[in-house]
Amino acid sequence: MVGVAVVGAGNWGKNLVRNLAALPGAELRYICDLNEKTRLAMAQAYPKSRAIGDMAIALHDPALDAVVVAVDAPAHYKVAKAALDAGKHVYVEKPLTLSSAEAQELTDLAASRGRKLMVGHLLEYHPAVNYMKDLIARGAVGKPLYLYFQRVNLGIVRTTENAWWSLAPHDISVACYLFDATPTSVSATGHAYLQEGVEDVVFANLKFADGRMAHIHVSWLDPHKIRKVTLVGSQKMVVFDDMDASEKIRIYDKGAEVQRRSVESYIEAITLRTGDILIPQVPTGEPLQIECQHFLQCVEKDTKPRSDGADGVRVVKVLEAGSRSLAQGGEPADV
Ligand SMILES: NC(=O)c1ccc[n+]([C@@H]2O[C@H](COP(=O)([O-])OP(=O)(O)OC[C@H]3O[C@@H](n4cnc5c(N)ncnc54)[C@H](O)[C@@H]3O)[C@@H](O)[C@H]2O)c1
Repeated sequence: MVGVAVVGAGNWGKNLVRNLAALPGAELRYICDLNEKTRLAMAQAYPKSRAIGDMAIALHDPALDAVVVAVDAPAHYKVAKAALDAGKHVYVEKPLTLSSAEAQELTDLAASRGRKLMVGHLLEYHPAVNYMKDLIARGAVGKPLYLYFQRVNLGIVRTTENAWWSLAPHDISVACYLFDATPTSVSATGHAYLQEGVEDVVFANLKFADGRMAHIHVSWLDPHKIRKVTLVGSQKMVVFDDMDASEKIRIYDKGAEVQRRSVESYIEAITLRTGDILIPQVPTGEPLQIECQHFLQCVEKDTKPRSDGADGVRVVKVLEAGSRSLAQGGEPADV
């Protein structure tokens, strides 16, 4: 049993509370939130846990092993650092922090204290993303060429972070996870239509050293609710549609082959191939529950989290490069 406190039980934190209260490997000892109404609601819904306003009460408890941080992003660093300083294992929602220097500091602090630091890169635990990763590993798509992500909806409009920092951590983490690599540069353009200085929509291009690319379109000012990842490989193309309840993955047996030596003209040398579309059975399971279970197991078995501090630092570095590019009108910025 891992003794856990959730700090921040707002819109997202309450989902972490729900999962951690139900998982047999966790004892949810504290739910901490500054907001009194939230505390009252939590105390009613989870009478076995203590609803508190001051995290220090939980940090002094020797039976508390781990702290799950789901406060708003600007407060991640301070709350996570206090928990690590108190010798607790820490899970932090994405993005790990708002600067890579702070993300690195937390990673180093966790290592020096022998504690786990895990980041809530939720999609790395999504069964459909792992299905795609397995397809790539088995060579089933041929050579992975490029990816593109669409994460658009109307809302939730944030005031402190722009759409890039709020939404793109998911896509950046998946791009790095599927390609097993870190991009070398980012070029991003976007615009702030609703609030000065807070971009509502961003189009970003991540370049990898070997020519692979990932394009990310994020927006909270869009008529469609789309959560889609498209992977184009040399032999097959794969689409993951998270809005489709039952058919999350489609594998298109489509491709193009270039045989430059056999004929003189390029047009004649390119053969297009269109075959069947396969809709495979993808394992089910709530990604957040799988993610929470993974964190508990890492604490119990002393193993490295999949989305560890280093993964968190990498994503924040890409976010920072994207911000620099946005400020320079789309000029590529090195990661
Ligand atoms: N993984 C995902 O898919 C996903 C989705 C949404 C949000 N998030 C992340 O979850 C985090 C929270 O987002 P949200 O939408 O729930 O925000 P929110 O504003 O709804 O909730 C934040 C809560 O934290 C509380 N809080 C702030 N500082 C605190 C402190 N020092 N001690 C105790 N409580 C404190 C606030 O009172 C509030 O209730 C953010 O980091 C966000 O990026 C992740």
